[in-house]
Amino acid sequence: VLSKGGETLTEDLDDYRSRAQSVAEPAAWDYLAGGAGAERTLAANVAAFRGATVVPRVLVDVSAVETTVEVCGTRLAAPLGVAPVAYQRLWHPDGEAATAAGAAATGTLMIASMFSSVRYEQIAAAGGSRWLQLYVLRDRAILLDLVTRAEAAGFTALVVTVDTPRLGDRRRDVRNSFAIPPHAQSQNIDPATMALAGIPAPGGSALASHVDATYDPGLRWSDLEWLAERSGLPVVLKGILDPADANRAVDAGAAGIVVSNHGGRQLDGAIATLDALPAVAAAVAGRVPVLFDGGVRHGVDILVARALGADVVLVGRPPIWGLAAGGAAGVTGVLSRLRAELELAMALAGRPRLTDLDPAIIRRAPR
Ligand code: GLV
Repeated sequence: VLSKGGETLTEDLDDYRSRAQSVAEPAAWDYLAGGAGAERTLAANVAAFRGATVVPRVLVDVSAVETTVEVCGTRLAAPLGVAPVAYQRLWHPDGEAATAAGAAATGTLMIASMFSSVRYEQIAAAGGSRWLQLYVLRDRAILLDLVTRAEAAGFTALVVTVDTPRLGDRRRDVRNSFAIPPHAQSQNIDPATMALAGIPAPGGSALASHVDATYDPGLRWSDLEWLAERSGLPVVLKGILDPADANRAVDAGAAGIVVSNHGGRQLDGAIATLDALPAVAAAVAGRVPVLFDGGVRHGVDILVARALGADVVLVGRPPIWGLAAGGAAGVTGVLSRLRAELELAMALAGRPRLTDLDPAIIRRAPR
């Protein structure tokens, strides 16, 4: 059995997932669990990890396993972060405050969503390492105001999502005429800007209407250069899959990139993130950190992603399973479990240091 600080970690991520599904409001569950279109990319992200295996070495001294990393000036206990997920009070009354507490308790990076249902300052009160995710809205004044607030609240980097000029076709949300209920609405942006997200659109998704009305579909590289120059904080670009875009991001002043297809929620049919990672990491060539998300469900997945070029691996849905199942303690349980699984995987692979992980130790089955 896995343990942490003398406490046995009996529940694995599947246990948290089923408990979360059993307590979540069905439309909120669908919003979390679902992807775009036929959910092919959602499934491909997970399947890509199933097709990646590790070749272990034996008789290596693994009495000490070392997992600490530093990314954009942030020190972490493991190469693990919580991906931004909006409106977390959909799944637990404590929302993002509990997720941040679980992240802080485990030395995990917390990336709060722009559309947090708890005020940024309250997320900051949990302590720990925190970055803020942003979309670039048509109204740039909102963006600059949030950047100032984030800096004042001790968020140390911005993560700008660049894969959402329009919202993906989330079939489940359309079928549910999903809208954000009053208790889970954004607490950080003026209500007029957020209004459409809360108004059910029969036969449609309120979130798609909100995105159409407020996000800037004309966003270009020059806008990112502007933000990177304007912001006192490092700007990380999330949603990069092509090596040419990775190069462009570094040229535009990005302090890091996130290899992501938005958890299969944007372009259905997009490449699985693990398939995209090696070429993107090769293009970046260590100039800035490469973060990664999509399909990570086990500690060994973190090992595999690290070996294939990721510096830090993010998880989106799993911490929310913990949140729904048990608030801050549930988030702590999920993140501790992932870290303990990573340490065990490194020991059993005979690779006790993160620097021992490289592409040569991975075999990939054709799919
Ligand atoms: C928002 O970005 C979402 O994926 O729902």
